[in-house]
Amino acid sequence: MEKIKLEALKQIDLVNDLVSLENIRIAFLSKKGAVSELMKQLKDMDPSERKSFGEQVNQMKLEIEDALIQKKVVLENIALENKLKQEKLDIHLDQVVLPKGYLHPLIQVIRDVEDFFIGKGFSVAEGPELETDHFNFEMMNLSKGHPARAMQDSFYVDPERLLRTHTSPVQARAMLEAGGQDLAIICPGKVYRRDDDDPTHSHQFMQIEGLFVSDDVNFSHLKGILLEMAKHIFGPERHIRLRPSYFPFTEPSVEVDVSFVKSDGTPIWIEVLGAGMVHPNVLSMANFDPNQKRGFAFGIGVERIAILKYFIDDIRHFYVNDKRFLDQFKGVL
Ligand code: PHE
Repeated sequence: MEKIKLEALKQIDLVNDLVSLENIRIAFLSKKGAVSELMKQLKDMDPSERKSFGEQVNQMKLEIEDALIQKKVVLENIALENKLKQEKLDIHLDQVVLPKGYLHPLIQVIRDVEDFFIGKGFSVAEGPELETDHFNFEMMNLSKGHPARAMQDSFYVDPERLLRTHTSPVQARAMLEAGGQDLAIICPGKVYRRDDDDPTHSHQFMQIEGLFVSDDVNFSHLKGILLEMAKHIFGPERHIRLRPSYFPFTEPSVEVDVSFVKSDGTPIWIEVLGAGMVHPNVLSMANFDPNQKRGFAFGIGVERIAILKYFIDDIRHFYVNDKRFLDQFKGVL
């Protein structure tokens, strides 16, 4: 009896799959199994031995059954795990690698100039691109029929409205809003002029105009900030040169040249922007007392800065969305 039991337990211990385990059960516990065969001996036994023999066989049967059940649980778990492993589903989508975007070179130039002026306490003001004749011209001291209107050929939508030819109207709006209080703003944005497109002209381009109005501002403040700005944009070794000029909205007015060095080493001056002291008429139209307040103003062409800074040979590159061109400005700023 002991031998049968040990044999059964040993086989159960070694078995590795459920089918073989079932075969062991059949071999020991089925009607024709080894344990049942032992039971059959009962009827030939002396009644005095029968009881304890029967109990022992039963006990052995229970032990073997117990071992079978435990092993079955173990093997079933292993089988389940294997099944799960095989059925493993990868529910991940293929990784989509999105190319990292970057700013358009013109926006990079605007951000750089904004950075400079925000550091000086200026704020950034914006306004409509479709403007009234009143804000675009009249508030800038260009009354109807003023000959200097011809300096800025325009896209009129109707006799009173046009695509703004500069961002100066944003300054007029901001001055009115300021209600006679000092202000320091820059106005970046798109402007439009009726020009034929060629390597140096575009009917649409971008400007940053600046305005500072205060009690005691004077021309040397303007000159100082423009020099600092030129160094910020183009590098610390730059100089500026002012030449007298004419704008209806400033008096005196200047064109500002920045020093460059040609590839053969020759130093040259290149005109970069226009500026001046705000005309008294512009101040009074915007409700400032020209005897008390003064202001300086300047206007920069964003494309012009980018062309000079990055040696670009055709202004139209900025507008046609050619990736080969634009990719060169990845991470410049
Ligand atoms: N508004 C001028 C232009 O677009 C630029 C400018 C602004 C010039 C301020 C002087 C002072 O041409």
